[in-house]
Amino acid sequence: MSKYDMTQIAVGYIDKTDIDLAKKVAQQWQLQYIGDVASVNKQSNLLFLLQVHFQQVELIKLDEPKLGAIKVDFVEGPVAHRRKFGGGRGQDIAKAIGLKHGFTPHVLDATAGLGRDSFVLASLGCQVTMMERMPIVAALLENGLARAKIHQEVADIVDRMSLIYASSIDDMTLANAPDVIYLDPMYPHREKSAAVKKEMRVFQALVGEDLDADNLLIPALKLAKYRVVVKRPSYAEPLNNKAPSTSIKMKKNRFDVYVNQAIPKAMT
Ligand SMILES: C[S@@+](CC[C@H](N)C(=O)[O-])C[C@H]1O[C@@H](n2cnc3c(N)ncnc32)[C@H](O)[C@@H]1O
Repeated sequence: MSKYDMTQIAVGYIDKTDIDLAKKVAQQWQLQYIGDVASVNKQSNLLFLLQVHFQQVELIKLDEPKLGAIKVDFVEGPVAHRRKFGGGRGQDIAKAIGLKHGFTPHVLDATAGLGRDSFVLASLGCQVTMMERMPIVAALLENGLARAKIHQEVADIVDRMSLIYASSIDDMTLANAPDVIYLDPMYPHREKSAAVKKEMRVFQALVGEDLDADNLLIPALKLAKYRVVVKRPSYAEPLNNKAPSTSIKMKKNRFDVYVNQAIPKAMT
Protein backbone atom coordinates (compact mmCIF):
# COMPACT_ATOMS: atom_id res chain seq x y z
CA MET A 1 0.00 0.00 0.00
CA SER A 2 1.05 3.58 -0.49
CA LYS A 3 2.86 5.86 1.95
CA TYR A 4 0.94 9.11 1.33
CA ASP A 5 -2.58 10.33 1.89
CA MET A 6 -5.18 11.61 -0.54
CA THR A 7 -4.56 15.24 0.41
CA GLN A 8 -1.21 14.89 -1.37
CA ILE A 9 -2.85 14.25 -4.74
CA ALA A 10 -4.66 16.94 -6.72
CA VAL A 11 -6.39 17.29 -10.08
CA GLY A 12 -5.82 20.06 -12.63
CA TYR A 13 -6.14 20.82 -16.33
CA ILE A 14 -3.59 21.89 -18.92
CA ASP A 15 -5.97 23.32 -21.51
CA LYS A 16 -9.16 25.19 -20.61
CA THR A 17 -11.21 22.80 -22.76
CA ASP A 18 -10.60 20.17 -20.07
CA ILE A 19 -11.96 22.17 -17.10
CA ASP A 20 -15.21 20.18 -16.90
CA LEU A 21 -13.52 16.78 -16.98
CA ALA A 22 -10.89 17.86 -14.43
CA LYS A 23 -13.63 19.04 -12.05
CA LYS A 24 -15.59 15.84 -12.58
CA VAL A 25 -12.56 13.64 -11.87
CA ALA A 26 -11.77 15.62 -8.71
CA GLN A 27 -15.34 15.31 -7.49
CA GLN A 28 -15.73 11.63 -8.33
CA TRP A 29 -12.54 10.56 -6.57
CA GLN A 30 -12.75 13.18 -3.81
CA LEU A 31 -9.51 14.88 -4.70
CA GLN A 32 -8.46 18.50 -4.37
CA TYR A 33 -9.09 20.54 -7.55
CA ILE A 34 -6.39 23.11 -8.34
CA GLY A 35 -7.59 24.42 -11.71
CA ASP A 36 -4.75 25.22 -14.10
CA VAL A 37 -1.83 22.82 -13.47
CA ALA A 38 0.49 25.85 -13.42
CA SER A 39 -0.77 26.57 -9.90
CA VAL A 40 0.74 23.34 -8.61
CA ASN A 41 3.86 25.28 -7.54
CA LYS A 42 1.83 27.02 -4.84
CA GLN A 43 1.05 23.67 -3.19
CA SER A 44 4.20 22.34 -1.60
CA ASN A 45 2.48 19.41 0.14
CA LEU A 46 1.47 17.67 -3.08
CA LEU A 47 3.21 14.46 -4.21
CA PHE A 48 1.17 13.52 -7.27
CA LEU A 49 -0.87 15.39 -9.82
CA LEU A 50 -3.63 14.01 -12.01
CA GLN A 51 -3.60 16.29 -15.03
CA VAL A 52 -6.28 16.29 -17.66
CA HIS A 53 -4.76 16.77 -21.08
CA PHE A 54 -7.12 16.78 -24.05
CA GLN A 55 -9.57 14.45 -22.24
CA GLN A 56 -6.74 12.15 -21.17
CA VAL A 57 -6.18 11.69 -17.43
CA GLU A 58 -2.46 11.39 -16.67
CA LEU A 59 -0.52 10.99 -13.45
CA ILE A 60 2.70 12.82 -12.63
CA LYS A 61 5.03 12.33 -9.69
CA LEU A 62 5.74 15.92 -8.81
CA ASP A 63 9.21 15.47 -7.32
CA GLU A 64 10.37 13.44 -10.33
CA PRO A 65 8.72 15.07 -13.35
CA LYS A 66 11.35 13.61 -15.69
CA LEU A 67 9.78 10.20 -15.23
CA GLY A 68 6.92 11.51 -17.33
CA ALA A 69 3.18 10.98 -17.05
CA ILE A 70 1.41 7.65 -16.83
CA LYS A 71 -1.98 6.99 -18.33
CA VAL A 72 -4.09 4.08 -19.52
CA ASP A 73 -3.96 3.86 -23.27
CA PHE A 74 -5.63 0.93 -25.00
CA VAL A 75 -5.54 2.59 -28.42
CA GLU A 76 -1.86 3.31 -29.04
CA GLY A 77 1.48 2.35 -27.49
CA PRO A 78 2.61 -1.00 -26.07
CA VAL A 79 -0.85 -2.39 -25.32
CA ALA A 80 -2.08 -1.74 -28.86
CA HIS A 81 1.13 -3.20 -30.27
CA ARG A 82 0.68 -6.35 -28.24
CA ARG A 83 -2.92 -6.69 -29.48
CA LYS A 84 -1.69 -6.69 -33.07
CA PHE A 85 1.50 -8.72 -32.71
CA GLY A 86 1.23 -10.47 -29.33
CA GLY A 87 0.72 -14.07 -30.34
CA GLY A 88 -3.03 -14.54 -29.77
CA ARG A 89 -4.11 -17.61 -27.87
CA GLY A 90 -0.59 -19.03 -28.04
CA GLN A 91 0.80 -16.51 -25.55
CA ASP A 92 1.60 -17.62 -22.02
CA ILE A 93 -1.19 -15.68 -20.29
CA ALA A 94 -3.75 -17.27 -22.62
CA LYS A 95 -2.40 -20.75 -21.86
CA ALA A 96 -2.46 -20.03 -18.12
CA ILE A 97 -6.08 -18.83 -18.24
CA GLY A 98 -6.96 -21.95 -20.24
CA LEU A 99 -7.83 -20.32 -23.53
CA LYS A 100 -5.97 -22.82 -25.63
CA HIS A 101 -8.76 -25.31 -24.99
CA GLY A 102 -11.06 -23.16 -27.07
CA PHE A 103 -12.59 -21.99 -23.83
CA THR A 104 -13.40 -18.27 -23.51
CA PRO A 105 -14.12 -17.65 -19.83
CA HIS A 106 -15.44 -14.79 -17.78
CA VAL A 107 -12.27 -13.65 -16.02
CA LEU A 108 -12.12 -11.64 -12.82
CA ASP A 109 -8.89 -9.63 -12.81
CA ALA A 110 -8.89 -8.98 -9.07
CA THR A 111 -5.78 -6.75 -9.16
CA ALA A 112 -6.46 -4.72 -12.29
CA GLY A 113 -3.71 -2.04 -12.13
CA LEU A 114 -3.41 -0.28 -15.49
CA GLY A 115 -5.53 -2.99 -17.10
CA ARG A 116 -2.94 -4.30 -19.53
CA ASP A 117 -3.42 -7.98 -18.79
CA SER A 118 -7.19 -7.49 -18.74
CA PHE A 119 -7.04 -5.86 -22.15
CA VAL A 120 -5.01 -8.78 -23.55
CA LEU A 121 -7.63 -11.22 -22.25
CA ALA A 122 -10.54 -9.12 -23.53
CA SER A 123 -8.86 -8.85 -26.94
CA LEU A 124 -8.81 -12.66 -27.00
CA GLY A 125 -12.58 -12.68 -26.47
CA CYS A 126 -12.92 -13.02 -22.67
CA GLN A 127 -15.44 -11.05 -20.64
CA VAL A 128 -13.26 -9.37 -18.03
CA THR A 129 -14.39 -7.89 -14.73
CA MET A 130 -11.63 -5.76 -13.22
CA MET A 131 -11.32 -4.85 -9.56
CA GLU A 132 -9.00 -2.10 -8.40
CA ARG A 133 -8.82 -0.67 -4.89
CA MET A 134 -6.64 2.40 -5.41
CA PRO A 135 -8.76 5.40 -6.40
CA ILE A 136 -6.05 7.01 -8.54
CA VAL A 137 -5.43 3.80 -10.46
CA ALA A 138 -9.19 3.31 -10.86
CA ALA A 139 -9.46 6.91 -12.15
CA LEU A 140 -6.75 6.27 -14.77
CA LEU A 141 -8.38 3.00 -15.76
CA GLU A 142 -11.87 4.43 -16.02
CA ASN A 143 -10.62 7.25 -18.25
CA GLY A 144 -8.66 4.79 -20.43
CA LEU A 145 -11.79 2.69 -20.90
CA ALA A 146 -13.92 5.73 -21.73
CA ARG A 147 -11.47 6.95 -24.38
CA ALA A 148 -11.10 3.49 -25.91
CA LYS A 149 -14.89 3.12 -26.27
CA ILE A 150 -14.92 5.85 -28.89
CA HIS A 151 -12.18 4.25 -31.00
CA GLN A 152 -13.70 1.85 -33.46
CA GLU A 153 -10.58 -0.36 -33.53
CA VAL A 154 -10.84 -1.29 -29.86
CA ALA A 155 -14.43 -0.40 -28.88
CA ASP A 156 -15.68 -4.00 -29.10
CA ILE A 157 -12.77 -5.16 -26.92
CA VAL A 158 -13.34 -2.64 -24.12
CA ASP A 159 -17.07 -3.35 -24.26
CA ARG A 160 -16.13 -6.72 -22.78
CA MET A 161 -14.33 -5.01 -19.87
CA SER A 162 -15.95 -3.60 -16.75
CA LEU A 163 -14.43 -1.98 -13.69
CA ILE A 164 -15.39 -2.32 -10.04
CA TYR A 165 -13.68 0.08 -7.65
CA ALA A 166 -13.28 -2.05 -4.54
CA SER A 167 -10.84 -4.25 -2.69
CA SER A 168 -11.10 -7.77 -3.98
CA ILE A 169 -9.90 -9.11 -0.62
CA ASP A 170 -13.05 -7.66 0.96
CA ASP A 171 -15.53 -7.78 -1.90
CA MET A 172 -14.49 -10.41 -4.44
CA THR A 173 -18.04 -11.75 -4.71
CA LEU A 174 -19.14 -8.47 -6.35
CA ALA A 175 -17.88 -10.12 -9.52
CA ASN A 176 -20.63 -12.27 -10.91
CA ALA A 177 -19.65 -15.97 -11.15
CA PRO A 178 -16.16 -15.74 -12.66
CA ASP A 179 -14.80 -18.85 -14.39
CA VAL A 180 -11.20 -17.85 -13.83
CA ILE A 181 -9.64 -15.38 -11.38
CA TYR A 182 -6.40 -13.67 -12.33
CA LEU A 183 -4.13 -12.15 -9.66
CA ASP A 184 -1.08 -9.97 -10.25
CA PRO A 185 -0.37 -8.16 -6.98
CA MET A 186 2.62 -5.84 -6.62
CA TYR A 187 5.58 -7.78 -5.33
CA PRO A 188 8.36 -6.13 -3.26
CA HIS A 189 10.71 -4.76 -5.89
CA ARG A 190 14.10 -6.31 -6.26
CA GLU A 191 15.37 -4.71 -9.45
CA LYS A 192 17.51 -1.59 -9.08
CA SER A 193 15.35 1.40 -9.82
CA ALA A 194 17.46 2.49 -12.82
CA ALA A 195 16.59 -0.79 -14.50
CA VAL A 196 12.87 -0.28 -13.96
CA LYS A 197 11.12 1.60 -16.73
CA LYS A 198 10.26 5.22 -15.94
CA GLU A 199 6.54 4.58 -16.18
CA MET A 200 6.81 1.65 -13.78
CA ARG A 201 8.66 3.81 -11.25
CA VAL A 202 5.78 6.27 -11.09
CA PHE A 203 3.32 3.39 -10.73
CA GLN A 204 5.39 1.73 -8.01
CA ALA A 205 5.64 5.02 -6.10
CA LEU A 206 1.86 5.39 -6.31
CA VAL A 207 0.82 1.86 -5.41
CA GLY A 208 3.66 0.71 -3.12
CA GLU A 209 3.73 -2.99 -2.33
CA ASP A 210 0.67 -5.18 -1.92
CA LEU A 211 1.83 -6.63 1.39
CA ASP A 212 -1.57 -8.21 2.04
CA ALA A 213 -1.55 -10.10 -1.27
CA ASP A 214 -1.46 -13.54 0.39
CA ASN A 215 -5.03 -12.88 1.55
CA LEU A 216 -6.26 -12.89 -2.06
CA LEU A 217 -5.74 -16.58 -2.69
CA ILE A 218 -8.33 -18.20 -0.41
CA PRO A 219 -11.30 -16.05 -1.52
CA ALA A 220 -10.19 -16.47 -5.13
CA LEU A 221 -10.07 -20.26 -4.84
CA LYS A 222 -13.51 -20.20 -3.25
CA LEU A 223 -15.06 -18.10 -6.01
CA ALA A 224 -13.38 -19.24 -9.24
CA LYS A 225 -15.27 -21.96 -11.05
CA TYR A 226 -12.32 -23.46 -12.89
CA ARG A 227 -9.00 -21.94 -11.87
CA VAL A 228 -6.99 -19.17 -10.28
CA VAL A 229 -3.92 -17.83 -12.06
CA VAL A 230 -1.27 -15.85 -10.18
CA LYS A 231 1.49 -13.89 -11.88
CA ARG A 232 4.70 -13.93 -9.80
CA PRO A 233 8.30 -12.83 -10.34
CA SER A 234 10.45 -15.94 -11.03
CA TYR A 235 12.28 -15.60 -7.71
CA ALA A 236 9.15 -15.18 -5.55
CA GLU A 237 7.52 -17.76 -3.32
CA PRO A 238 4.07 -18.85 -4.45
CA LEU A 239 1.23 -16.69 -3.15
CA ASN A 240 0.31 -17.58 0.44
CA ASN A 241 3.08 -20.21 0.19
CA LYS A 242 0.62 -22.54 -1.47
CA ALA A 243 2.06 -24.76 -4.17
CA PRO A 244 0.17 -24.38 -7.47
CA SER A 245 -1.19 -27.28 -9.55
CA THR A 246 1.17 -26.23 -12.32
CA SER A 247 3.32 -23.28 -13.42
CA ILE A 248 4.14 -21.67 -16.74
CA LYS A 249 7.63 -20.23 -16.57
CA MET A 250 8.79 -17.18 -18.49
CA LYS A 251 12.05 -15.23 -18.40
CA LYS A 252 11.33 -12.96 -15.43
CA ASN A 253 7.92 -14.14 -14.28
CA ARG A 254 5.78 -17.20 -14.05
CA PHE A 255 2.08 -17.98 -13.94
CA ASP A 256 1.09 -20.23 -11.05
CA VAL A 257 -2.11 -22.04 -11.94
CA TYR A 258 -4.42 -23.43 -9.22
CA VAL A 259 -6.96 -25.78 -10.73
CA ASN A 260 -10.33 -26.02 -8.98
CA GLN A 261 -12.02 -28.01 -11.68
CA ALA A 262 -10.93 -29.17 -15.13
CA ILE A 263 -12.31 -27.21 -18.05
CA PRO A 264 -14.98 -29.57 -19.43
CA LYS A 265 -14.22 -31.34 -22.70
CA ALA A 266 -17.49 -30.15 -24.21
CA MET A 267 -16.08 -26.65 -24.25
CA THR A 268 -13.14 -27.58 -26.47
C1 LIG B 1 1.04 -5.13 -10.40
S1 LIG B 1 -0.43 -4.20 -10.52
C2 LIG B 1 -1.36 -5.11 -11.71
C3 LIG B 1 -0.94 -4.85 -13.13
C4 LIG B 1 -1.92 -5.39 -14.13
N1 LIG B 1 -1.89 -6.84 -14.17
C5 LIG B 1 -1.69 -4.82 -15.52
O1 LIG B 1 -1.52 -5.62 -16.46
O2 LIG B 1 -1.71 -3.58 -15.67
C6 LIG B 1 -1.32 -4.58 -9.05
C7 LIG B 1 -2.59 -3.76 -8.87
O3 LIG B 1 -3.47 -4.47 -8.04
C8 LIG B 1 -4.09 -3.59 -7.15
N2 LIG B 1 -4.53 -4.39 -5.98
C9 LIG B 1 -3.76 -5.06 -5.10
N3 LIG B 1 -4.49 -5.69 -4.18
C10 LIG B 1 -5.78 -5.42 -4.50
C11 LIG B 1 -7.03 -5.79 -3.91
N4 LIG B 1 -7.10 -6.55 -2.82
N5 LIG B 1 -8.17 -5.35 -4.50
C12 LIG B 1 -8.12 -4.58 -5.62
N6 LIG B 1 -6.97 -4.18 -6.20
C13 LIG B 1 -5.81 -4.60 -5.66
C14 LIG B 1 -3.02 -2.57 -6.84
O4 LIG B 1 -3.59 -1.37 -6.34
C15 LIG B 1 -2.36 -2.41 -8.20
O5 LIG B 1 -2.98 -1.40 -8.95
